[in-house]
Amino acid sequence: MTKYTIALLEGDGIGPEISAASVGVLGALKGRFGISFEVRKVPAGDRCKAEMGEALPDSSISAIKESDACFKAPVGDTAAETIVRLRQMLNLYANIRPSKTLPHVPSLKPAIDFIIVRENTECLYRGMEFEFDGGVVALRTITRRASARIAAYAFELAEHRRSKEVVAVHKSNVLRKSDGLFAQVCREVSAQHPRVSFSEMLVDSAAMNLIRMPEKFDVIVTTNMYGDILSDEAAQLVGGLGVAPSANIGENFAIFEPVHGAAPDIAGKGQANPIAMVLTSCMMLDWLSQTHKDTSCAEAAAAIRGAVDRALESGIKTSDLGGVSTTAEVGAAIAKLVAQ
Ligand code: NAI
Ligand code: MG
Repeated sequence: MTKYTIALLEGDGIGPEISAASVGVLGALKGRFGISFEVRKVPAGDRCKAEMGEALPDSSISAIKESDACFKAPVGDTAAETIVRLRQMLNLYANIRPSKTLPHVPSLKPAIDFIIVRENTECLYRGMEFEFDGGVVALRTITRRASARIAAYAFELAEHRRSKEVVAVHKSNVLRKSDGLFAQVCREVSAQHPRVSFSEMLVDSAAMNLIRMPEKFDVIVTTNMYGDILSDEAAQLVGGLGVAPSANIGENFAIFEPVHGAAPDIAGKGQANPIAMVLTSCMMLDWLSQTHKDTSCAEAAAAIRGAVDRALESGIKTSDLGGVSTTAEVGAAIAKLVAQ
């Protein structure tokens, strides 16, 4: 039995509800596939700041670093102090956001299956904002190093996919130097991957084409803020934020979190869809499988995905998908199907 230590950030708003449902699903794996999890709750976010004075105390950073992987629910207004800081501090340079049509969930087109590979450490999200001339100036950083690293990740990913197509999304016609550099580096990396076809698209056109022909995309590589914005749009194509998982991946560590935020409008009402976080746990299991050379984790991920499909098929859905089930009911139904 291989035991993995998971640092759990329960987050704010709907975070604790979807965390409980998702941890219940992981718990249902116990005794199957020869793996188990020690889930350690780690304080971070708005509630942590109110109680401990800091959104991301040093003790939490240590606990995260000591774990095999971090499983994170959304935090609220302290997102920049927690997750953006963690991404930069732990060098989690690749934010991976798949958008795939789920059976039994309305999708804009029937067979959408693409992945946004978002640069996760620089761009405007470095947070370098300064007061200037009665206003504010915000610095956007694009480096050759970070652009090459994210482009390499995108092409490697595409090598293992059926379509093998990378499109670099940028705005180099206006941001000639910064996005010009990003585009140039993507072109250079593409030369090392002759089996992968490469094209470029301006970000405003990409926003339109994601709605016009989402089934045509395979791998999108882009800078931090464009990736943030386009991935919420991408989520909506295949059922919404309630079903959109993501991973923040670095050389040696990774944090897995749903795309969505803390959803204060529905917090505490049992309405939040836990599937985004459950599918996020599948991305964590796939990553553990790769990094620990442990095929059991990949089998467990497949079992959870199958259980999600069957729960949806039987109509167990939260209200965002047109159902009447609560967060806990959806979580329990998936857990039961995993354990069968
Ligand atoms: P949001 O993603 O929390 O909510 C947008 C809309 O989607 C809301 O109507 C919400 O009810 C719905 N929604 C989100 N997740 C859902 C789920 N699982 N099931 C059903 N409906 C769901 O975005 P918003 O309102 O812009 O941000 C709320 C807070 O979350 C802010 O304080 C923000 O800073 C934080 N945030 C944190 C993130 C993180 O921790 N990585 C990421 C994004 C936002
Ligand atoms: Mg976002």
